[in-house]
Amino acid sequence: MNYRIAVIAGDGIGPEVTSQAVKVMKRTGEKFGHDFEFTYAYAGGCAIDKKGECLPEETLEICRRSDAVLLGAVGGPKWDDLPGPKRPEKALLGLRKDLGLYANLRPAVMFEELAGDCPLKPEIVKGGIDLMVVRELTGGIYFGERGTKETEMGPAAYDVEQYSEGEVRRIAETAFGMAMKRGKKVTSVDKANVLDSSRLWRRVTEGVAKEYPEVETNYMYVDNAAMQMVRDPKQFDVLLTSNMFGDILSDEASQVTGSIGMLPSASLGEGSFGMYEPVHGSAPDIAGRDLANPMATILSAAMMMRYTFGLKEEADAVESAVEKVLAAGCRTADIAGEGMKIYGTEETGNMIAEAI
Ligand code: IPM
Ligand code: MG
Repeated sequence: MNYRIAVIAGDGIGPEVTSQAVKVMKRTGEKFGHDFEFTYAYAGGCAIDKKGECLPEETLEICRRSDAVLLGAVGGPKWDDLPGPKRPEKALLGLRKDLGLYANLRPAVMFEELAGDCPLKPEIVKGGIDLMVVRELTGGIYFGERGTKETEMGPAAYDVEQYSEGEVRRIAETAFGMAMKRGKKVTSVDKANVLDSSRLWRRVTEGVAKEYPEVETNYMYVDNAAMQMVRDPKQFDVLLTSNMFGDILSDEASQVTGSIGMLPSASLGEGSFGMYEPVHGSAPDIAGRDLANPMATILSAAMMMRYTFGLKEEADAVESAVEKVLAAGCRTADIAGEGMKIYGTEETGNMIAEAI
């Protein structure tokens, strides 16, 4: 089969980590007889520099013509002083919105080999962590009405959190569907003790939950969820969240599993099309030095094979190749234990490709 992939390498460590993922995909293609075809496009800070805007129409066109998008990371100090709408991060939001990718899947799995990197006490995480944040990605405060106004306390800025029933229903359906394939448990996160938007979120989710009697559902205020994530992360299977709560809790979940350098993500819409990217950012401090961990991006490529292309065996092969090289002691600096040899980005990519 022939699969078309748009590659947005982006800024900072983005180009280094995506090139390792492309390498691993090519190797997987050879092994399983698929033709993965890559088209490169600019977005983020590099697009501002080269094309004068963070998300050129040409990039969107390339994405729309592709079956999936592989994205590295965007942003960096060079562009930090630009006004909000011109910042590189705006490219990410634009891609998500334009491509209709409302469902963000962020699995946080603790790799056995990396249990030592987990900052929690061993007895808390014994048996491993395996949860998935299902984050709403094209609504809420990220896309709500915003503006400035004068107040008694001086000029003010505001961003509105708003959710419609339809937006909540579709992401809740994604979460419950996901739970059916996993541990059959959904924890819906909100702030329904304070916010009307959260009360609507909870009401709609309760309705969807009725359609999934096999799934155990509970509702948790976001402050409690943040606390439970470090108190007892094993209680979670699927966490259903709004855009902003999911942004925050997925970073927390990633640290609990050991390293943010390990976590992939998928952003999906109605069809099979999806955008796949590591949860980590552009890490400008280590960019271009062969220090970045490419595993999150490589695991994102595995998610692409699984969710967009339906290539289960191939996705499994990539995931087990990552486990294999971890077991063989391959560690980038972020996950190396004391006294362990540190591998570079390129070398890590090579080892994973060879292990396919
Ligand atoms: C993420 C990032 C983005 C977000 C930023 C870079 C816009 O933090 O994907 O989690 O807040 O969604
Ligand atoms: Mg984030």
